Amino acid sequence: MLSLGTKTSRRCATGIRPLAASLVALSLVAGLGAAGIASAADEALPKIADKKPLKVGFAQTESNNPWRLAETKSFKDIAAKCGWQMVMTDANSSPAKQVADIQSMIAQHVDLLVFPPREEKPLAPVVLQAKKAGIPVILVDRNVDQSMAKAGRDYITFIGSDFIDQGHRAADWLVKATSGKATIIELEGSTGASAANDRKKGFDEVIAKNPGMKIIASQSGDFARDKGRQVMETLLQAHPDVTAVYAHNDEMALGAIAAIKAAGKQPGKDIVLVTIDGTKGGLEAIAAGELGASVQSSPFFGPLACDVAQKFAKGETVPPWVKVSDRFYDKSNVKESMQYGY
Ligand code: AHR
Repeated sequence: MLSLGTKTSRRCATGIRPLAASLVALSLVAGLGAAGIASAADEALPKIADKKPLKVGFAQTESNNPWRLAETKSFKDIAAKCGWQMVMTDANSSPAKQVADIQSMIAQHVDLLVFPPREEKPLAPVVLQAKKAGIPVILVDRNVDQSMAKAGRDYITFIGSDFIDQGHRAADWLVKATSGKATIIELEGSTGASAANDRKKGFDEVIAKNPGMKIIASQSGDFARDKGRQVMETLLQAHPDVTAVYAHNDEMALGAIAAIKAAGKQPGKDIVLVTIDGTKGGLEAIAAGELGASVQSSPFFGPLACDVAQKFAKGETVPPWVKVSDRFYDKSNVKESMQYGY
């Protein structure tokens, strides 16, 4: 589900405080030179060339979970239909490698760059480098720090979910499911990723308004199943009184479920879990009664990016945030929702 409306990004509307000092520092990191940054910000966005095939660089962050695989597949699937010749890389969970991958695509003069920035800050300078090189950029799934590179000015747009709202929805469900009384372990996503920062913000905001709900520990599981299990094992020993888990993605929740079972407790009964993504594994765990609910986070950005690129190429207005709206799964609708798992 896609909204190409006029809604402005919350992040874009409030997150921009360009300080002279940080701009100079950023310009040096980006290799633009101290004077170059002001002119780069003033320059119009690079255009998308009117040619087929269009050489499109897609720099993936990692491929260690079903969400990432589904995202990459959605670009592979749309490429021929959209007239795109894809150049694809995988950063293996390293923001430094993702930067290098993108710099190599800039050096190859791709016609368009599309990527999910693994982390908000380290990936912002390369967005400016692409603009300086005249290469248009569309960010998908995760965003960059808006005080460093701004949607609509430095890159065409951010296509993605409202991660803060996802956190609100997960917390609202948990408050209801526990009648407002829970001791919670939070398994955070990759440190510095917009998905982790905003999912934490949204969830913690709602929990703070409910005096019977307490987050007793919050630690990163790097959006990975193994890491989620390991972190949960450790936290379970330190906090045997835990009654609920909020994981920033399904994979970490599935890891936590394994850890809970290994500790002789019953997921879904002794410990209630809520998470985000809506993967096939997540939906199956809801059907099995082990996972309480999952807020969908759609990974299918290929068709959306194609649509946005074609609109922008034709000169149509593209908003700085093309917002993706997400479904919600719990035991009440999981049977008929299996078709949406990936
Ligand atoms: O940025 C989206 C998150 O990244 C997904 O929730 C997660 O599964 C992925 O690694």
